[in-house]
Amino acid sequence: MTQTIKRIALSTGGGDAPGLNAVIRAATLAAHQRGWEVVGIRDGFNGLMVPEEYGDDGLMDLTPESVRGIVHLGGTILGTTNRGNPIAFPVQQPDGSWVEVDRSQELIDRFDANGIDALITIGGDGSLAIGHHLQQAGLRVIGVPKTIDNDLERTASTFGFDTAVSFASECIDRLFTTATSHGRILVVEVMGRYAGWIGLHAGVASGAHAILIPEIPYELEPVAEVIEERERRGSKFSIVVVAEGAAPASGHVSVIGKSIGQAERLGGVGAKVTTGLEALTGKESRTVVLGHLLRGGSPTAFDRLLGLRFGAAAVRALAEGRDGVMVALNPPTMDYVPLVEVAKRQRHVPLDCDTMQTARDLGITFGEPLTV
Ligand code: F6P
Repeated sequence: MTQTIKRIALSTGGGDAPGLNAVIRAATLAAHQRGWEVVGIRDGFNGLMVPEEYGDDGLMDLTPESVRGIVHLGGTILGTTNRGNPIAFPVQQPDGSWVEVDRSQELIDRFDANGIDALITIGGDGSLAIGHHLQQAGLRVIGVPKTIDNDLERTASTFGFDTAVSFASECIDRLFTTATSHGRILVVEVMGRYAGWIGLHAGVASGAHAILIPEIPYELEPVAEVIEERERRGSKFSIVVVAEGAAPASGHVSVIGKSIGQAERLGGVGAKVTTGLEALTGKESRTVVLGHLLRGGSPTAFDRLLGLRFGAAAVRALAEGRDGVMVALNPPTMDYVPLVEVAKRQRHVPLDCDTMQTARDLGITFGEPLTV
């Protein structure tokens, strides 16, 4: 029999995404309507893992009053971290070195000690994998898909993606004018980890001439060819969008570094593409890295609505007795999909999808080898 719910916790983990506060507001209001108490765990799971660092119990009471006026705000009122994985918690050894320790049972005991009956975990593939692990260990868990990268399985979209794409498109629009004035190549590096969704959507929406994504190992010669052909037809400038996880056919993804308990940091491919294109075309070129600007700021109306729908659906899932599922957008409705089917998986851009086809029909190159 399903345990009666009296108190639930919300957690936001991993990189933030515009729309998180909408999820928090909707889940809080929907839970209060059912007479449940709601608490938010500060900074991912750290509020419960290391409560001594917070000066209180590491939890934030969430009430209709405390979630008022937050839907339009970027970030998360709970805080987040990508360093507090309870399954691989970084612990410093006496000799100064670090090891990753599984502290998930300790975390589950703290849910119990705080009278928390269920968890709504709002995160990307990493946080959903943690949620799956906790659920397997006995906690009642519902997941909500969050990431600007849009790389989660089994949901048509994640919130945060639309805001990132809209802002990237606005930036690229601006770069068009200055690139045109100077007759330059402008290379725009965007986030997205190992998926090209942001690069593809922003690039097509803003009329880029080349888009390099992780799904297609690129060569610069075909890109230079498109730029030179444009030049011959009188267009002296070109815009190239590069996803941070894109890699040359003859090389590797650009990794900045990796710290204990964290995913590797990507970045730097934009500068490499700029140098390469300058050498091939002889044209003056510049790099713009949009980076964390894509994660900041106010969510678009689309992301607000999606966040609100996800938050409300997560509470409905608990009320219906569900467990171990992620709420997922399957337009026009919400689905519930097993967490095991999304944990630690990444959804890549299908090379035959309509947006890819559209890009090709518009003459946009993906840096694929030229056919002779
Ligand atoms: O997953 C979201 C994301 O913004 C990626 O696009 C990017 O690679 C990563 O997070 C950056 O993480 P951090 O905030 O740790 O630099």
